Amino acid sequence: MSLSIVILAAGQGTRMRSRLPKVLQPLAEKPLLGHVLATAHELGADDVCVVYGHGAEQVLATFPGEELRWALQAEQHGTGHAVQQAMPGTPGGGRTLILFGDVPLLTAGTLSRLVTGTPAADMAVLTVDLEDPTGYGRVVRDGEDVVRIVEQKDASDDELGICEINTGVMLCPTDRLKNWLDNLGNDNAQGEYYLTDVIAMAVADGVTVHGIKAESEVEVMGINDKVQLAEAERALQWRRVMNLMKAGVGFADPARVDIRGTLECGSDVFIDVNTIFEGDVVLGDGVTVESNNLIRDARIGDETVIHSNCHIEGGTTGVACELGPFARMRPGAVLADRVKLGNFVEVKESTIDDGSKVNHLTYIGDAEIGKGVNVGAGTITCNYDGANKHKTIIDDGAFIGSGVELVAPIRVGRNATIGAGSTLTKPAPDEKLTLERAKQLTVKGWQRPEKKI
Ligand code: UD1
Ligand code: CA
Repeated sequence: MSLSIVILAAGQGTRMRSRLPKVLQPLAEKPLLGHVLATAHELGADDVCVVYGHGAEQVLATFPGEELRWALQAEQHGTGHAVQQAMPGTPGGGRTLILFGDVPLLTAGTLSRLVTGTPAADMAVLTVDLEDPTGYGRVVRDGEDVVRIVEQKDASDDELGICEINTGVMLCPTDRLKNWLDNLGNDNAQGEYYLTDVIAMAVADGVTVHGIKAESEVEVMGINDKVQLAEAERALQWRRVMNLMKAGVGFADPARVDIRGTLECGSDVFIDVNTIFEGDVVLGDGVTVESNNLIRDARIGDETVIHSNCHIEGGTTGVACELGPFARMRPGAVLADRVKLGNFVEVKESTIDDGSKVNHLTYIGDAEIGKGVNVGAGTITCNYDGANKHKTIIDDGAFIGSGVELVAPIRVGRNATIGAGSTLTKPAPDEKLTLERAKQLTVKGWQRPEKKI
């Protein structure tokens, strides 16, 4: 039986106090709606439709090329009215699951429990027990089954005492849902078309409504303001770190790490405090990440150590490399095995082969560095002439003295030695010492200037 998913995302989210529509507010680097879409795809829905309205252009532009339908709800007349907008293109015969664009932590696991646990002809709502249910729709049951949901503003004193609330997630046979939506009225305290009114209609039609409880309050949490956004961020981070720890990854403190994209780890990985992982990061077996790093879109080879305070925004390393403290890798930095990048070394769009060392205060850009090369402190590959980028090639076994400038395009030969302080503009031959320096001069009779009084 086919499963359609409708995601309500038309609301403004005034309490965010932001120019960005609520469903585009970022949670772990991804818009709230992006999380819900990912869950919808994980569930293997046959049809996904997003009901959008506020910030329409921005919302559409954020998800280009996604496989889904968009239904515009130009004016927001309630959740029932919102779902109605999605119905024209929704295939009949199957079931429709309704999700909210501002409830990002709901797992595909909970939702598939709801879908598989509900007989095809029945209806289900996802509920949760809250200590303080103020503001939410209350779930009214008769025995096991749900008979009605009553909104806070329409509830009697007795109903206000109910602590089981409607999370908003609902599963319905699609054809029946279309019919119920056509018959919704807005005769209530808010003058809105309430989606929740379909429950009483279902009951009147003899359809059983199951109330299925979510595992935790956190999972069904709706995000309305920046405080809740931060709470959701923490909850999501905690969930991710717990999953990694269960898979064997060591964390010095599970509360002091941020995994904003995806983090894949081999065995015996240890991560000290305050590292931020962004984009897609892969850490091989035995990798150690010391404190205070930013690591984005990188593949780090087995047994590599990332010392404190590195900034890695792309690139890959082979096995047993050592980075930092204070090293910077940029996109296109490709390190082979046992490479060392020391403090204040920046590498961009360059390859560095096995066993080479770049230990201090150096810029390596658009370079190809061979095996066993030693790059001295303060070396600069002058790769940019103000208009174009040029290549530096340093062959195997070369030794570059301190403070050398290599003006690209240039090649340093195999086992060449470059004297400290040289500015090379021509190739340096294999096996030889090459220097480029003015002669040292000591000026006779020179006097230090003195301050005039
Ligand atoms: C709704 C439920 C309530 C439930 C609560 C859970 C109804 C009538 N009430 O109440 O039982 O406890 O959610 O948070 O369904 N939206 C649209 N278009 C609209 C109205 C809403 O897209 O015209 C979207 C909003 O952007 C939001 C979601 O639907 O993502 C929920 O809307 P909201 O107004 O927050 O519903 P509540 O009144 O809180
Ligand atoms: Ca709400």
